[in-house]
Amino acid sequence: MSIPPHQLKLLNSKSKGICILALMLTENTNTLIQSKLPKTEVSIFAVMSKLAQECGAINLSQGFPDFEIDPRLKEFVKEGLDKNQVQYAPMPGRLDLRMAIAKKIELQHGISVDPETEITVTAGATQAIYCAISAVIEEGDEVILFDPAYDCYDPTIRLNKGIPVHLKLKHPTYKIDWDELREKLTAKSRMLIVNNPHNPCGSVWDESDLAQLEQLLRDFPKLLVLSDEVYEHIQFEGTHQSVLKNDYIRSRSFVCYSFGKTFHATGWKVGYCVAPKTFSEELRVVHQFNVFCVNNTIQYALATYMNQTNAWQEVTPFYKEKRDLFLDAMQASRFKPLNCQGTYFCLFDYSAISNENDVEFAKRITHEHGVATIPVSVFYGDKTDHKVVRFCFAKENDTLLKATDKLCRI
Ligand SMILES: Cc1ncc(COP(=O)(O)O)c(C=O)c1O
Repeated sequence: MSIPPHQLKLLNSKSKGICILALMLTENTNTLIQSKLPKTEVSIFAVMSKLAQECGAINLSQGFPDFEIDPRLKEFVKEGLDKNQVQYAPMPGRLDLRMAIAKKIELQHGISVDPETEITVTAGATQAIYCAISAVIEEGDEVILFDPAYDCYDPTIRLNKGIPVHLKLKHPTYKIDWDELREKLTAKSRMLIVNNPHNPCGSVWDESDLAQLEQLLRDFPKLLVLSDEVYEHIQFEGTHQSVLKNDYIRSRSFVCYSFGKTFHATGWKVGYCVAPKTFSEELRVVHQFNVFCVNNTIQYALATYMNQTNAWQEVTPFYKEKRDLFLDAMQASRFKPLNCQGTYFCLFDYSAISNENDVEFAKRITHEHGVATIPVSVFYGDKTDHKVVRFCFAKENDTLLKATDKLCRI
């Protein structure tokens, strides 16, 4: 930036001095900081949601429900306010909430987790993931993740000076290739990030995946696991194979969850991490200086809700109906569905419709056909394009039918 000479002439000497000082400061600040995450673009979720809004399109891109939360949960938020539950909560989370989580895990998997030492309430799963990686990863440590991958893993590894090692899930089943993984492990491998049920692919683990992981950990004693299980309650086929079910894997894992996904309140950003005592202690060291504690009123509401209901058991049937409705209606389209066994996302191959790359295709159908979607290449470190897009079906049935009506005309 510079001031044209004819404008500079018009200034008196004091103003000139101030202008020159301001310019020097601007130039200096530009070189004073260097980006720790250079070339980071605005997230595709923000881009597609904005585009959907501009075009008045139905937004099946970003993963959030367009329906209301359970009225009972709303009542408990109000009750929390009436009881003035508005000051700082305990650093690891309210004990009543941690006890309710432990009770749920016991009912779900038949295992006991110590609410005092093994559960930490976090600001969404994102913050649990951030704290787990920050607690463990040192400069030069390799962290293995599988593309297509949820977007926060890679930058969090890099912020901690770790080295992200991107492997790929097998297309189109989107399962882990355990043999390839073994070949890629080195003396520097420190952490493995897995996500089950999987966003964006909708694939889920079976028992053989747990067995493979256990054997791998036995063979590589330094390796730790970060298991992202935020969609644990949205699995349509088989039972959820949480790493918590296997004692050996559990003793080496941070396992992250999200109330936002389970109770349809993504904006609350409340989640938790289950990890062995010594792991939780280190995670809490980061958590305590990162946020210290999480929204107390919402924690009160969640604890009371979980103590009075087992609403989490209703989530899979609720979404199964939506998935089936969406898939049935899409049968009349030229989109080819890939297997959707879990999460509230479904992948579709659009190669029978167009040759465009997936980003162009997603933007064009938003503009021209009024339905926003997410191109799956954005979840790959190398932007692999299999001509697949992701639709979110966490929407009112009416919204889904309106969207499929439009998609079937493409
Ligand atoms: C796979 C996966 N992990 C983690 C998160 C983050 O969860 P939260 O919103 O609770 O931070 C999401 C949210 O979309 C997700 O899809």
